[in-house]
Amino acid sequence: MNIINMIENKQITEIRKQFPILQTNINKKPLVYLDNASTTQKPNSVINKISEYYKNYNSNIERGFHTLGSQSFEQVNKTRETVSKFINSQNSSQIIFTSGTTESINIVANGFANELNEEDIVILSELEHHSNIVPWINLCRNTNSKLEVIPILKSGELDFKFIHNIIKKRPKIIALTYASNVIGTINDIEQIIKIAHEYNIKVFIDAAQAVPHFAINVQKLDCDFLAFSSHKMYGPMGVGVLYCKEEILQNMKPLKFGGAMIEDVSFCDFKYREHPYKFEAGTMNISNIIAFNEAIEFINQIGFEVIEKYEKDLFEYLIQELQNISQIKIIGNPKNKVPLVSFIAKNMHPFDIGMMLNASGIAVRTGNHCAQPLMDKLNLSGTVRVSLSIYNTKEEIDFLVSTLKKILL
Ligand SMILES: Cc1ncc(COP(=O)(O)O)c(C=O)c1O
Repeated sequence: MNIINMIENKQITEIRKQFPILQTNINKKPLVYLDNASTTQKPNSVINKISEYYKNYNSNIERGFHTLGSQSFEQVNKTRETVSKFINSQNSSQIIFTSGTTESINIVANGFANELNEEDIVILSELEHHSNIVPWINLCRNTNSKLEVIPILKSGELDFKFIHNIIKKRPKIIALTYASNVIGTINDIEQIIKIAHEYNIKVFIDAAQAVPHFAINVQKLDCDFLAFSSHKMYGPMGVGVLYCKEEILQNMKPLKFGGAMIEDVSFCDFKYREHPYKFEAGTMNISNIIAFNEAIEFINQIGFEVIEKYEKDLFEYLIQELQNISQIKIIGNPKNKVPLVSFIAKNMHPFDIGMMLNASGIAVRTGNHCAQPLMDKLNLSGTVRVSLSIYNTKEEIDFLVSTLKKILL
């Protein structure tokens, strides 16, 4: 029995029951949710934790010493500890809560504002999401530093020849996605970090599309920075993580100021607290940070061994079935992929495909996926993207494929 059948029979039905939205209908058809790279659905444990907070201990943290405030503070710290274990950081104080990957990247780019000048180079890749492009363009503009971009090969993988050459110019930072949100490419980040560190170059990793699919160990990777979003890994919206190496955190300047990040303030001066607090200005999304803990527990309970095997088999099945539709062209064919695929059809615009799938209750993403420079490189205006998660099934893929055949053939 292959892993799909084995896990599906035993666990997937139970897993699906934990997601109330998966029991709903869209356009009078059972929802088939295949837009997990945009955001995943949330299990009951996450949804219930948010209402538990508002019903039982809604309070601000670090602003008073009453019981409710202490309860919230403890729960936020619990999530910080859970995240720290999840990515194996040395210390939970290396975990900064942000509003999402985008804010995390902005904090890091801002942190380099005083370190760069016209001699310096920042490196990105053609695979990046707008969130890992625009903050760096802004930084380069403000500091007159240069931006260089690692091209991709036809397969959708990074050009390592270019990396070996550009690295000799000693850029200040390389900011890369771990996994592409358009092609699915899993970059060989470990190798890139090794090469970069030989030249003393810092590496930032955008792990937004990686964290839901495989285990990340920041100490083993030895990355300098890593960012991801809760909402793409079964957690609530409006919560993100920024991990940084200890010595970087001590020197990096915050992006936002005010609230409990302050140690001491007068009208002439101020002093901020140690990390992580100095990066957490203002009232954070406390309810959702607390519920984020449940999302990680959900992943931990299933375990990445099961998640990886199940998603890999399901994804192979999806690709095999899509390849049987003559009108479809799949974009890129990298060796290692997260379970998402972009395609175009010879005879229909991606938006029309998306709309017609939606009429059958199937949710996919269409458009440029916030990766316009990649679309330009591929000479495309957009694609249809199907992205899988642990709760998707072979039957859902069969329904997608039969609906696509009806639409396209
Ligand atoms: C690779 C990648 N980076 C960054 C982001 C931005 O994440 P957020 O909107 O949660 O900040 C996304 C969102 O799709 C993404 O796919």
